[in-house]
Amino acid sequence: MALDDHIERILWTEADIAARVSELAAQISDDFREHTPSSPLILVGVATGAFLFFADIVRKINLPLTVDFIRVGSYGCGTQSTGAPRISCDINTDVKGKHVVLVEDIVDTGHTLSCLIAHLESKGAGSVSVCAFLDKPTRRKVHFQLVGDGKLYSGFECPDHFVVGYGMDFAELYRNLPYVGVLKPEHYN
Ligand code: PRP
Ligand code: MN
Ligand code: MG
Repeated sequence: MALDDHIERILWTEADIAARVSELAAQISDDFREHTPSSPLILVGVATGAFLFFADIVRKINLPLTVDFIRVGSYGCGTQSTGAPRISCDINTDVKGKHVVLVEDIVDTGHTLSCLIAHLESKGAGSVSVCAFLDKPTRRKVHFQLVGDGKLYSGFECPDHFVVGYGMDFAELYRNLPYVGVLKPEHYN
């Protein structure tokens, strides 16, 4: 079976993704250059969905930085958020007073990010920025607030379809597709 056959159409190709990732990384590098001589930037990847975006963007940020992961999930096996994200694996890094950038694959209802931002704020992060590959603003239920002088970076605005690939799953599948596409309805019904 070819995994590609499950995809109705491609929204962003590998080349589209690579170009946008480079732009985002250049912005982050510019914005944090003045801060990083004293302390490296802390990049936190939100597992599982952000694993590919995270690996790509950290290689394009031209600053001293450290990497860590936080694991959170709220979708389980369905296409709807349960609205109650659960952190199942926390970061190891001490973020007190530090600049942190949360790296996400997609912001949908906003529950995941608002939970993670509050979590990092409670650990004393000096600033929390968010870098999300995709944003679905039409689906937002909770408006998250960044911490300190944190900034928001967003790759593409995503239409309201259930998208998979480039880290994003349906029932844990399709994460390994190198592009972002719309799943054929017969595969999630
Ligand atoms: C997905 C996605 C984001 C979150 C966005 O994660 O990777 O983390 O949902 O949705 P929200 O804005 O409505 O909270 P998921 O819970 O499916 O876990 P996963 O990353 O392991 O797939
Ligand atoms: Mn996720
Ligand atoms: Mg998921």
